[in-house]
Amino acid sequence: MIEAVELTKDFGDGIRAVDRVSFEIPPGQIFGLLGPNGAGKTTTINLFLDFIRPTAGKAVISGVEVAVEPRRAKRHVELIPENVALYPTLTAVQNVEFFSSLGRRRRVERERVRQALLRAGLAEEAFDRRVSGFSKGMRQKAGIAVSIVRQAPAVLLDEPTSGLDPKAAADLLVLLDGMREQGVAILICTHDIFRAQQLCDRVGIMRQGTMRTVLDRRALDAADLEQVYLDMMAYG
Ligand SMILES: Nc1ncnc2c1ncn2[C@@H]1O[C@H](COP(=O)(O)OP(=O)(O)OP(=O)(O)O)[C@@H](O)[C@H]1O
Ligand SMILES: [Mg+2]
Repeated sequence: MIEAVELTKDFGDGIRAVDRVSFEIPPGQIFGLLGPNGAGKTTTINLFLDFIRPTAGKAVISGVEVAVEPRRAKRHVELIPENVALYPTLTAVQNVEFFSSLGRRRRVERERVRQALLRAGLAEEAFDRRVSGFSKGMRQKAGIAVSIVRQAPAVLLDEPTSGLDPKAAADLLVLLDGMREQGVAILICTHDIFRAQQLCDRVGIMRQGTMRTVLDRRALDAADLEQVYLDMMAYG
């Protein structure tokens, strides 16, 4: 479960990046967050990872308030950033092994790593290659493999399809669908209105730090999400 309760973040100079935002993402649901540049999407994600502390309200992962017990909360959540950071001189398998083993007493077995990479959709011939030559989509697959190995019940993705080729983006959607079926709670920030409409159980539209509207599956099926978004920007 991913939960925002009246979540608020002020930066200096009177900037309220996130303003009393509330939502709940139960296990097995995908929540999409849309909104223009500067709407507060990435800031919202950062609050769930304890990269920054809320000014008011709370971010809760699997019942654990992030700002109160950050270490415990972080055991339940994985971030897939737009650009996945990996060690360039290590292979895909070595990277996933390393990042999946962080904070654990025992090293993760090779076989589990390979299975996760396979599920993440990396071509097997790339498993033992150094990642320095990897494309953006291949790096993302390695990042996703880490969250598969770690079996995080909550996964956060920040603009996961930006810069991916259409096939890689479609693959990612299938993968996220599978994670949802396994009961993972997923939060995706994206500018990709059409994929959000296809994939998400609910979509929220943010503007200037506030959540302007949330559409559920029925509303998504009935509405032209792009038009709703554009109206929100014009009048919301
Ligand atoms: N570390 C920071 N210090 C000061 N202001 C910040 C900081 N991080 C974000 N902001 C401000 O908070 C607001 C929200 O930014 P945020 O990055 O969350 O937007 P976003 O919705 O992710 O936008 P984009 O679609 O461009 O990624 C912006 O006004 C931004 O300038
Ligand atoms: Mg952002």
